[in-house]
Amino acid sequence: MNGSLRVIAPAKVNWTLEVLRARPDGYHEVRSVLQTIDLHDVVTLLPGAEIELQIAGPEAGALAGAPQESNLAVRAAVALIRRAGAKRGVRILLEKNIPVAAGLGGGSSDAAAVLRGLNRLWDLQLPPENLAELAGEVGSDPPFFCVGGTALVAGRGERVEPLPDAVSPPILLATPPRDERGEKTAAMFGALLPAMFTAGDATIGVRETVDARRPIVSEELYNVFERVTAELQPATAMAMEALRLQGHTAHLCGAGPSFFLLLAREAPVDALLARTRDLGFEPRVVQPLPRRAALAQRSE
Ligand code: C5P
Repeated sequence: MNGSLRVIAPAKVNWTLEVLRARPDGYHEVRSVLQTIDLHDVVTLLPGAEIELQIAGPEAGALAGAPQESNLAVRAAVALIRRAGAKRGVRILLEKNIPVAAGLGGGSSDAAAVLRGLNRLWDLQLPPENLAELAGEVGSDPPFFCVGGTALVAGRGERVEPLPDAVSPPILLATPPRDERGEKTAAMFGALLPAMFTAGDATIGVRETVDARRPIVSEELYNVFERVTAELQPATAMAMEALRLQGHTAHLCGAGPSFFLLLAREAPVDALLARTRDLGFEPRVVQPLPRRAALAQRSE
């Protein structure tokens, strides 16, 4: 051990994503059941004098040129150092595997991994609720990744209730090429009309399924952003529709533009992988990641 720590930062999918109303603070009141999956970045934390970020891995190119201060992992370290009230530094090595700006929560997960990791590396002993609060300063999604596994999220994203690990079939995840991605979250929220707001019933339904340890089924999943996908992410809408016409219901990941299908036992996996590729999306088969694995850290 040389005082460094390796932390897994998993991606997520949304089993549900509902908006209840617009809030006076410019955010939207959401209800969502989120699920970590086994596609993950790796965050390695090493002693350093300043905060320093180094990015490698297949998705590193997508972040090339972006200022270091804008990276959520760096912003998490800054927030934690401010909270800890000490002048400290850390070298953050980020192995970027999760497609960037794809609706998979990668940047938010990296931020939570930094908070969880530094809490341990620096022996700060901040309780989980303090970490989640700090995570909420970095963005709306990082608090979920302080909990991982399956969880119900409310507020603008900062209220996270852990649920038992969901039982789910494997997931076919489909991501568009990098040049069709971009920071669209604010625009997607902005395009929602009040008629699209719901009461949270789909989320309550999935929560009951998860609590009862019943397997997740496609019919109970819901994502409000699918109502505005055709307008703002036409390539995603067309691919999802093409699959639907073949009898396969796809679901949007977060605010898109990735989407996923549940691979039921009888699903024609090879044909679906080929079809997804034909539609211009990169397919991957992933598994839900239980909380224990989602929060894994290893000293090195
Ligand atoms: O919190 P985060 O920086 O990820 O949010 C990005 C943008 O998405 C916000 O500025 C806001 O426009 C929108 N948003 C929202 N309601 C939420 C979360 C995000 O309107 N619950």
